[in-house]
Amino acid sequence: MTETMEHICNVNDIEHESAREFQKDGQSIVVAKFDGQMHAYINWCPHLGIELNFMPDQFMDGDGQFIMCANHGALFEVETGNCLSGPCSGDKLIAVPLEVRGEEVWLGEVPQPA
Ligand code: FES
Repeated sequence: MTETMEHICNVNDIEHESAREFQKDGQSIVVAKFDGQMHAYINWCPHLGIELNFMPDQFMDGDGQFIMCANHGALFEVETGNCLSGPCSGDKLIAVPLEVRGEEVWLGEVPQPA
């Protein structure tokens, strides 16, 4: 079986309560570290189907509690990707399979946005 997982970064490459952008399968992926856990989502806001950020690696709200869409301020829960407020409330970010192997962060196959 071919390995579809790819080593994308290390746990310590991302500050606590922050997120960074990586490329996989031709897609921009947001990898966030929150409450000691790693999470990955496609950089794709369910409101308009565009990228969440204006500035490189700027994905969190001012308090580092939520992933925020810079376009219209939608807030997403980091653990689930659920949109808690904003124009796409009730919708969610598309999760990318993620595994932590020791200090390494590996991403699985990226789903295609609808
Ligand atoms: S495009 Fe993300 S909130 Fe509008």
